Amino acid sequence: MDIVVSGIRSTGRLHLGNYFGALQNFVKLQDTHQCYFFIADYHSLTTHPNAVDLHESVGHVLVEYLAAGIDPEKATIFVQSDLPEVAELYLYLNMNAYVGELERSTSFKDKVRSQPDNVNAGLLTYPTLMAADILIQKATRVPVGKDQEQHLEMTRTFAARFNRMYRVDYFPEPQAYNFGKDLLKVPGLNGKGKMSKSEGEAGAIFLSDDAATVRSKVMRAVTDSGPLDENEKKTEPAQNLFDLMELVSSPETIRFFEGEHRSARIRYGDLKRQLAEDIIAFKEPIYEHIIELNSNQTYIREAARMGAAKARVSARKTLKEVREIIGFKSF
Ligand code: ADP
Ligand code: TRP
Repeated sequence: MDIVVSGIRSTGRLHLGNYFGALQNFVKLQDTHQCYFFIADYHSLTTHPNAVDLHESVGHVLVEYLAAGIDPEKATIFVQSDLPEVAELYLYLNMNAYVGELERSTSFKDKVRSQPDNVNAGLLTYPTLMAADILIQKATRVPVGKDQEQHLEMTRTFAARFNRMYRVDYFPEPQAYNFGKDLLKVPGLNGKGKMSKSEGEAGAIFLSDDAATVRSKVMRAVTDSGPLDENEKKTEPAQNLFDLMELVSSPETIRFFEGEHRSARIRYGDLKRQLAEDIIAFKEPIYEHIIELNSNQTYIREAARMGAAKARVSARKTLKEVREIIGFKSF
Protein backbone atom coordinates (compact mmCIF):
# COMPACT_ATOMS: atom_id res chain seq x y z
CA MET A 1 0.00 0.00 0.00
CA ASP A 2 1.15 3.55 -0.71
CA ILE A 3 2.35 5.43 2.32
CA VAL A 4 1.61 9.15 2.29
CA VAL A 5 3.61 11.85 4.08
CA SER A 6 3.19 15.60 3.97
CA GLY A 7 3.79 18.63 6.12
CA ILE A 8 3.16 22.35 6.22
CA ARG A 9 5.50 24.82 7.86
CA SER A 10 4.22 26.40 11.04
CA THR A 11 4.96 29.99 10.18
CA GLY A 12 1.44 31.34 10.52
CA ARG A 13 -2.16 30.57 9.82
CA LEU A 14 -3.09 28.49 6.79
CA HIS A 15 -4.40 30.20 3.66
CA LEU A 16 -6.39 29.06 0.65
CA GLY A 17 -3.14 28.17 -1.17
CA ASN A 18 -2.22 25.73 1.59
CA TYR A 19 -5.75 24.37 1.57
CA PHE A 20 -6.14 23.74 -2.15
CA GLY A 21 -2.47 22.88 -2.76
CA ALA A 22 -2.08 20.47 0.13
CA LEU A 23 -4.68 20.15 2.88
CA GLN A 24 -7.68 19.13 0.79
CA ASN A 25 -5.65 16.26 -0.61
CA PHE A 26 -4.65 15.18 2.91
CA VAL A 27 -8.31 14.93 3.81
CA LYS A 28 -9.13 12.81 0.76
CA LEU A 29 -6.14 10.51 1.09
CA GLN A 30 -6.73 9.63 4.73
CA ASP A 31 -9.65 7.34 3.83
CA THR A 32 -7.67 5.10 1.52
CA HIS A 33 -4.00 5.36 2.51
CA GLN A 34 -1.73 5.12 5.47
CA CYS A 35 -1.08 8.82 6.06
CA TYR A 36 1.34 10.86 8.16
CA PHE A 37 0.60 14.60 8.27
CA PHE A 38 2.76 16.86 10.37
CA ILE A 39 3.48 20.46 11.21
CA ALA A 40 7.01 21.30 10.12
CA ASP A 41 8.21 23.35 13.08
CA TYR A 42 11.89 22.38 12.70
CA HIS A 43 11.70 23.79 9.19
CA SER A 44 10.25 27.03 10.55
CA LEU A 45 13.47 27.71 12.44
CA THR A 46 15.21 28.45 9.13
CA THR A 47 13.18 31.66 8.91
CA HIS A 48 11.34 32.17 12.21
CA PRO A 49 13.60 31.58 15.20
CA ASN A 50 11.17 33.00 17.83
CA ALA A 51 9.93 30.38 20.33
CA VAL A 52 6.74 32.15 21.41
CA ASP A 53 5.50 32.72 17.86
CA LEU A 54 6.54 29.20 16.94
CA HIS A 55 4.48 27.55 19.65
CA GLU A 56 1.47 29.71 18.92
CA SER A 57 1.55 28.98 15.19
CA VAL A 58 1.97 25.25 15.72
CA GLY A 59 -1.22 25.40 17.77
CA HIS A 60 -3.07 27.29 15.03
CA VAL A 61 -1.97 24.92 12.30
CA LEU A 62 -2.92 21.87 14.38
CA VAL A 63 -6.42 23.29 14.85
CA GLU A 64 -6.66 24.12 11.15
CA TYR A 65 -5.62 20.61 10.08
CA LEU A 66 -8.35 19.16 12.27
CA ALA A 67 -10.91 21.80 11.27
CA ALA A 68 -10.31 21.06 7.59
CA GLY A 69 -11.27 17.47 8.26
CA ILE A 70 -8.19 15.48 9.17
CA ASP A 71 -9.35 12.72 11.44
CA PRO A 72 -6.71 11.64 13.99
CA GLU A 73 -8.32 8.18 14.08
CA LYS A 74 -7.60 7.72 10.37
CA ALA A 75 -4.43 9.71 9.72
CA THR A 76 -1.40 10.10 11.94
CA ILE A 77 -1.17 13.81 12.70
CA PHE A 78 1.81 15.12 14.65
CA VAL A 79 4.28 17.92 15.26
CA GLN A 80 7.67 17.40 13.56
CA SER A 81 9.70 18.26 16.67
CA ASP A 82 7.85 15.52 18.59
CA LEU A 83 9.69 13.12 16.29
CA PRO A 84 13.37 13.88 17.01
CA GLU A 85 14.30 10.66 15.15
CA VAL A 86 13.95 12.70 11.98
CA ALA A 87 16.97 14.78 13.01
CA GLU A 88 19.16 11.68 13.03
CA LEU A 89 18.12 10.65 9.54
CA TYR A 90 18.69 14.27 8.45
CA LEU A 91 22.26 13.96 9.72
CA TYR A 92 22.91 10.84 7.64
CA LEU A 93 21.32 12.32 4.52
CA ASN A 94 23.43 15.46 4.87
CA MET A 95 26.57 13.35 4.57
CA ASN A 96 25.51 12.38 1.05
CA ALA A 97 24.08 15.69 -0.10
CA TYR A 98 26.38 17.98 -2.04
CA VAL A 99 26.63 21.69 -1.27
CA GLY A 100 26.51 22.43 -5.00
CA GLU A 101 23.16 20.73 -5.55
CA LEU A 102 21.69 22.28 -2.40
CA GLU A 103 22.77 25.75 -3.54
CA ARG A 104 20.96 25.23 -6.83
CA SER A 105 17.56 24.78 -5.14
CA THR A 106 15.25 27.65 -6.10
CA SER A 107 13.84 27.94 -2.59
CA PHE A 108 17.39 28.44 -1.24
CA LYS A 109 18.14 31.08 -3.86
CA ASP A 110 14.88 32.86 -2.99
CA LYS A 111 15.77 32.91 0.69
CA VAL A 112 19.30 34.19 0.04
CA ARG A 113 17.61 37.07 -1.70
CA SER A 114 14.87 37.64 0.88
CA GLN A 115 16.94 37.25 4.06
CA PRO A 116 20.55 38.11 3.12
CA ASP A 117 21.47 38.66 6.77
CA ASN A 118 20.47 35.16 7.81
CA VAL A 119 21.71 32.66 5.23
CA ASN A 120 22.01 29.83 7.75
CA ALA A 121 23.05 26.23 7.09
CA GLY A 122 19.49 25.12 7.89
CA LEU A 123 18.25 27.02 4.84
CA LEU A 124 20.81 25.26 2.69
CA THR A 125 19.89 21.83 4.05
CA TYR A 126 16.13 22.47 4.09
CA PRO A 127 15.69 19.84 1.33
CA THR A 128 17.58 17.13 3.24
CA LEU A 129 15.39 17.69 6.31
CA MET A 130 12.32 17.47 4.09
CA ALA A 131 13.70 14.28 2.53
CA ALA A 132 14.22 12.87 6.04
CA ASP A 133 10.54 13.61 6.92
CA ILE A 134 9.44 11.63 3.90
CA LEU A 135 11.97 8.82 3.87
CA ILE A 136 11.70 8.09 7.59
CA GLN A 137 8.20 6.76 6.87
CA LYS A 138 9.33 5.20 3.56
CA ALA A 139 6.56 7.19 1.88
CA THR A 140 5.74 6.84 -1.81
CA ARG A 141 3.31 9.74 -2.20
CA VAL A 142 3.63 13.33 -1.07
CA PRO A 143 0.63 15.63 -1.57
CA VAL A 144 2.05 19.14 -2.04
CA GLY A 145 1.60 22.20 -4.22
CA LYS A 146 3.60 22.94 -7.34
CA ASP A 147 6.24 24.98 -5.49
CA GLN A 148 7.46 21.81 -3.75
CA GLU A 149 8.14 19.84 -6.93
CA GLN A 150 11.88 20.53 -6.87
CA HIS A 151 12.19 19.45 -3.23
CA LEU A 152 10.56 16.16 -4.15
CA GLU A 153 12.97 15.71 -7.03
CA MET A 154 15.83 16.20 -4.56
CA THR A 155 14.27 13.68 -2.16
CA ARG A 156 14.31 11.12 -4.98
CA THR A 157 17.96 11.93 -5.68
CA PHE A 158 18.91 11.43 -2.01
CA ALA A 159 16.91 8.19 -1.76
CA ALA A 160 18.47 6.74 -4.91
CA ARG A 161 21.95 7.84 -3.85
CA PHE A 162 21.58 6.16 -0.47
CA ASN A 163 20.43 2.95 -2.16
CA ARG A 164 23.33 3.03 -4.61
CA MET A 165 25.92 3.92 -2.05
CA TYR A 166 25.03 1.06 0.29
CA ARG A 167 23.94 -1.33 -2.48
CA VAL A 168 20.46 -1.76 -1.08
CA ASP A 169 16.96 -1.36 -2.39
CA TYR A 170 15.76 0.34 0.75
CA PHE A 171 14.19 3.76 0.24
CA PRO A 172 11.38 4.11 -2.31
CA GLU A 173 11.44 7.15 -4.61
CA PRO A 174 8.43 9.25 -3.56
CA GLN A 175 6.26 11.16 -6.04
CA ALA A 176 4.49 14.50 -5.58
CA TYR A 177 0.76 14.02 -5.61
CA ASN A 178 -2.39 15.92 -6.39
CA PHE A 179 -5.79 14.31 -6.79
CA GLY A 180 -6.41 13.57 -10.44
CA LYS A 181 -4.63 16.57 -11.96
CA ASP A 182 -1.49 18.66 -12.14
CA LEU A 183 -0.06 20.20 -9.01
CA LEU A 184 -1.89 23.40 -8.15
CA LYS A 185 -0.70 26.95 -7.84
CA VAL A 186 -3.26 29.16 -6.13
CA PRO A 187 -2.72 32.85 -7.00
CA GLY A 188 -2.63 35.62 -4.43
CA LEU A 189 -4.60 38.88 -4.39
CA ASN A 190 -1.57 41.06 -5.09
CA GLY A 191 -1.95 40.73 -8.84
CA LYS A 192 1.08 38.53 -9.30
CA GLY A 193 2.55 35.33 -7.97
CA LYS A 194 1.20 32.61 -5.70
CA MET A 195 -0.81 33.09 -2.55
CA SER A 196 1.72 32.96 0.28
CA LYS A 197 2.16 33.97 3.90
CA SER A 198 5.40 35.69 3.03
CA GLU A 199 3.76 37.98 0.46
CA GLY A 200 2.01 39.80 3.30
CA GLU A 201 -1.37 39.60 5.01
CA ALA A 202 -3.35 41.37 2.30
CA GLY A 203 -2.45 38.96 -0.50
CA ALA A 204 -3.68 35.84 1.25
CA ILE A 205 -7.08 34.68 2.49
CA PHE A 206 -6.64 32.70 5.68
CA LEU A 207 -8.97 29.87 6.71
CA SER A 208 -9.43 31.75 9.98
CA ASP A 209 -10.39 35.08 8.35
CA ASP A 210 -13.94 36.14 9.22
CA ALA A 211 -16.43 37.19 6.54
CA ALA A 212 -15.75 40.92 6.89
CA THR A 213 -12.01 40.39 6.47
CA VAL A 214 -12.51 38.22 3.37
CA ARG A 215 -14.76 40.88 1.82
CA SER A 216 -12.32 43.67 2.49
CA LYS A 217 -9.30 41.73 1.18
CA VAL A 218 -11.05 40.61 -2.00
CA MET A 219 -12.45 44.07 -2.71
CA ARG A 220 -8.92 45.47 -2.48
CA ALA A 221 -7.40 42.80 -4.76
CA VAL A 222 -5.31 44.17 -7.61
CA THR A 223 -7.04 44.30 -11.01
CA ASP A 224 -6.46 45.99 -14.35
CA SER A 225 -8.60 48.81 -15.71
CA GLY A 226 -10.71 46.37 -17.71
CA PRO A 227 -10.55 45.04 -21.29
CA LEU A 228 -11.01 47.67 -24.01
CA ASP A 229 -11.94 45.31 -26.83
CA GLU A 230 -13.89 42.11 -27.16
CA ASN A 231 -11.95 38.83 -26.76
CA GLU A 232 -8.96 40.52 -25.20
CA LYS A 233 -6.51 38.22 -23.44
CA LYS A 234 -6.75 38.48 -19.64
CA THR A 235 -3.97 40.26 -17.78
CA GLU A 236 -2.31 38.40 -14.89
CA PRO A 237 -4.31 40.13 -12.12
CA ALA A 238 -7.57 39.39 -13.95
CA GLN A 239 -6.59 35.79 -14.65
CA ASN A 240 -5.76 35.36 -10.96
CA LEU A 241 -9.28 36.37 -9.92
CA PHE A 242 -10.74 33.93 -12.44
CA ASP A 243 -8.39 31.19 -11.17
CA LEU A 244 -9.69 31.77 -7.65
CA MET A 245 -13.27 31.58 -8.94
CA GLU A 246 -12.46 28.19 -10.47
CA LEU A 247 -11.81 26.94 -6.95
CA VAL A 248 -14.88 28.26 -5.13
CA SER A 249 -17.58 29.42 -7.55
CA SER A 250 -20.24 27.55 -9.49
CA PRO A 251 -19.79 26.83 -13.23
CA GLU A 252 -22.69 29.24 -13.99
CA THR A 253 -21.00 32.08 -12.13
CA ILE A 254 -17.71 31.46 -13.91
CA ARG A 255 -19.44 31.27 -17.31
CA PHE A 256 -21.25 34.53 -16.62
CA PHE A 257 -18.12 36.51 -15.74
CA GLU A 258 -16.11 34.88 -18.54
CA GLY A 259 -18.81 36.17 -20.91
CA GLU A 260 -18.66 39.63 -19.37
CA HIS A 261 -14.89 39.73 -19.85
CA ARG A 262 -15.07 38.45 -23.41
CA SER A 263 -17.56 41.12 -24.34
CA ALA A 264 -15.46 43.77 -22.54
CA ARG A 265 -18.43 44.66 -20.30
CA ILE A 266 -16.96 43.30 -17.09
CA ARG A 267 -17.18 45.25 -13.84
CA TYR A 268 -14.52 43.92 -11.54
CA GLY A 269 -16.40 45.24 -8.51
CA ASP A 270 -19.26 42.83 -9.27
CA LEU A 271 -16.87 39.96 -9.84
CA LYS A 272 -15.08 40.64 -6.56
CA ARG A 273 -18.34 40.88 -4.60
CA GLN A 274 -19.39 37.50 -5.96
CA LEU A 275 -15.94 35.96 -5.42
CA ALA A 276 -15.86 37.15 -1.81
CA GLU A 277 -19.28 35.59 -1.08
CA ASP A 278 -18.25 32.32 -2.73
CA ILE A 279 -15.02 32.17 -0.71
CA ILE A 280 -16.95 32.87 2.49
CA ALA A 281 -19.52 30.16 1.72
CA PHE A 282 -16.82 27.70 0.77
CA LYS A 283 -14.83 28.06 3.94
CA GLU A 284 -17.74 28.63 6.33
CA PRO A 285 -17.76 25.03 7.70
CA ILE A 286 -13.98 25.08 8.24
CA TYR A 287 -14.18 28.53 9.86
CA GLU A 288 -16.92 27.38 12.25
CA HIS A 289 -14.96 24.26 13.09
CA ILE A 290 -11.82 26.33 13.89
CA ILE A 291 -13.80 28.37 16.42
CA GLU A 292 -15.29 25.24 17.97
CA LEU A 293 -11.91 23.45 18.24
CA ASN A 294 -10.17 26.47 19.73
CA SER A 295 -12.21 25.89 22.85
CA ASN A 296 -11.29 22.22 23.04
CA GLN A 297 -7.58 22.20 23.85
CA THR A 298 -7.73 18.75 25.43
CA TYR A 299 -8.84 17.18 22.17
CA ILE A 300 -6.10 18.97 20.25
CA ARG A 301 -3.36 17.98 22.70
CA GLU A 302 -4.55 14.39 22.69
CA ALA A 303 -4.61 14.23 18.87
CA ALA A 304 -1.00 15.47 18.68
CA ARG A 305 0.16 13.15 21.45
CA MET A 306 -1.45 10.09 19.90
CA GLY A 307 -0.05 10.97 16.44
CA ALA A 308 3.50 11.46 17.68
CA ALA A 309 3.42 8.10 19.46
CA LYS A 310 2.26 6.36 16.27
CA ALA A 311 4.75 8.17 14.02
CA ARG A 312 7.61 7.24 16.32
CA VAL A 313 6.97 3.51 16.01
CA SER A 314 7.56 3.46 12.24
CA ALA A 315 10.32 6.10 12.42
CA ARG A 316 12.29 4.09 14.96
CA LYS A 317 12.03 0.97 12.82
CA THR A 318 13.44 2.84 9.81
CA LEU A 319 16.27 4.34 11.85
CA LYS A 320 17.25 0.96 13.27
CA GLU A 321 17.44 -0.47 9.75
CA VAL A 322 19.30 2.56 8.38
CA ARG A 323 21.89 2.32 11.15
CA GLU A 324 22.46 -1.31 10.26
CA ILE A 325 22.76 -0.52 6.54
CA ILE A 326 25.28 2.24 7.23
CA GLY A 327 27.24 -0.12 9.46
CA PHE A 328 26.65 1.23 12.95
CA LYS A 329 26.45 -1.70 15.30
CA SER A 330 26.61 -1.80 19.06
CA PHE A 331 29.53 -3.53 20.75
P1 ADP B 1 3.77 29.56 2.27
O1 ADP B 1 4.24 29.62 0.84
O2 ADP B 1 2.58 30.41 2.50
O3 ADP B 1 4.88 29.78 3.26
P2 ADP B 1 4.13 26.79 2.72
O4 ADP B 1 5.41 26.94 1.97
O5 ADP B 1 4.23 26.51 4.18
O6 ADP B 1 3.26 28.07 2.48
O7 ADP B 1 3.27 25.68 2.01
C1 ADP B 1 2.64 24.57 2.62
C2 ADP B 1 1.96 23.71 1.59
O8 ADP B 1 0.97 24.45 0.90
C3 ADP B 1 2.87 23.13 0.50
O9 ADP B 1 2.43 21.84 0.12
C4 ADP B 1 2.71 24.08 -0.63
O10 ADP B 1 2.98 23.48 -1.88
C5 ADP B 1 1.25 24.46 -0.50
N1 ADP B 1 1.03 25.81 -1.00
C6 ADP B 1 1.42 26.98 -0.42
N2 ADP B 1 1.03 28.04 -1.15
C7 ADP B 1 0.39 27.51 -2.23
C8 ADP B 1 -0.26 28.09 -3.37
N3 ADP B 1 -0.35 29.41 -3.51
N4 ADP B 1 -0.79 27.27 -4.28
C9 ADP B 1 -0.73 25.93 -4.13
N5 ADP B 1 -0.16 25.31 -3.08
C10 ADP B 1 0.40 26.09 -2.15
N1 TRP C 1 8.67 22.26 2.52
C1 TRP C 1 7.27 22.14 2.71
C2 TRP C 1 6.64 23.51 2.50
O1 TRP C 1 7.26 24.53 2.57
C3 TRP C 1 6.91 21.64 4.07
C4 TRP C 1 7.44 20.29 4.33
C5 TRP C 1 8.44 19.96 5.21
C6 TRP C 1 7.03 19.07 3.72
N2 TRP C 1 8.66 18.62 5.18
C7 TRP C 1 7.83 18.04 4.28
C8 TRP C 1 6.07 18.76 2.74
C9 TRP C 1 7.69 16.72 3.89
C10 TRP C 1 5.94 17.42 2.36
C11 TRP C 1 6.73 16.42 2.93
O2 TRP C 1 5.49 23.56 2.27
